[in-house]
Amino acid sequence: MSDPAIIRLQIDGQAVEVRSGSNVAAAIAQATLYFHRSPSGQPRAPLCGMGVCFECRVDIDGVGQLRACMIPAREGMRVRTDG
Ligand code: FES
Repeated sequence: MSDPAIIRLQIDGQAVEVRSGSNVAAAIAQATLYFHRSPSGQPRAPLCGMGVCFECRVDIDGVGQLRACMIPAREGMRVRTDG
């Protein structure tokens, strides 16, 4: 039987487990350092952790430009970075 306190999701196709209550940014940090690239190609990662800087934007279940630091991790999410 699975532990209800553990959430399983995919980050760029990689299986990741986080504790219930974690946000998507915490899950991504287990898989990669960079969340997306700037228009000039520079790797970007979370800066503020509170929804202000937009440096943590990712695609979640086909919806782009979502701030990973503001979204709770949910079972079965498929997250894509372009970092
Ligand atoms: S880390 Fe700044 S908006 Fe997410």
